[in-house]
Amino acid sequence: MSCKKNSVIRKKILAYYENNKRDLPWRTEQDNNQNPYFTLVSEIMLQQTQVNTALAYYKKFIKKWPNLNSLAQANIEDVLTMWSGLGYYSRAKNLLKAAKLISKKYNGIIPNKYEDLISLPGIGEYTASAIISFAFGKFSVVIDTNIKRFISRVHGLNKNDIVNKSKLSEAGERMFPKSNSGKFAQAIMDFSSDICTKRSP
Ligand code: ADE
Repeated sequence: MSCKKNSVIRKKILAYYENNKRDLPWRTEQDNNQNPYFTLVSEIMLQQTQVNTALAYYKKFIKKWPNLNSLAQANIEDVLTMWSGLGYYSRAKNLLKAAKLISKKYNGIIPNKYEDLISLPGIGEYTASAIISFAFGKFSVVIDTNIKRFISRVHGLNKNDIVNKSKLSEAGERMFPKSNSGKFAQAIMDFSSDICTKRSP
């Protein structure tokens, strides 16, 4: 795909976002300087849960544990009670483990390096990329299910291309803007959940 087409897509997606950005409690005006703790908690919840369902849990969670150090002192029973109904409980267990580790090893400061993040329990490629770009403003091609679908459709990738991760990430590298890739990723997420849906693109 030509650079021209990617630049048209970037403009259109960002214009869509300008007018339709969802007002979500972890987001900021810029989308590149979110609170790292809010980003961690929300992205872990959103991995297997839709925004509308996760929202109420997120609000309760942040009310009870408003920052990393408060969560690091929580006990697992309370965290699981809070998580009750969200499913995939290993997410909650790993989130607590990660909070305790960050508290000990990084003085309670969520690291801003991909390699440090990905070494923490429950933080995979997606969550590490999301944190470095949404919270720390670093360039990252964030790829979740919706973004994967969007890139595949725009570039006409087939199933084999998608299984072959490098094709997808190469296409993503060319499509994502070098500055504020976090805004672009969240814009695609909103566009994909409203318009470029699984069933009816
Ligand atoms: N799904 C996963 N992360 C999201 C985010 N930051 N905004 C909207 N939808 C999402």
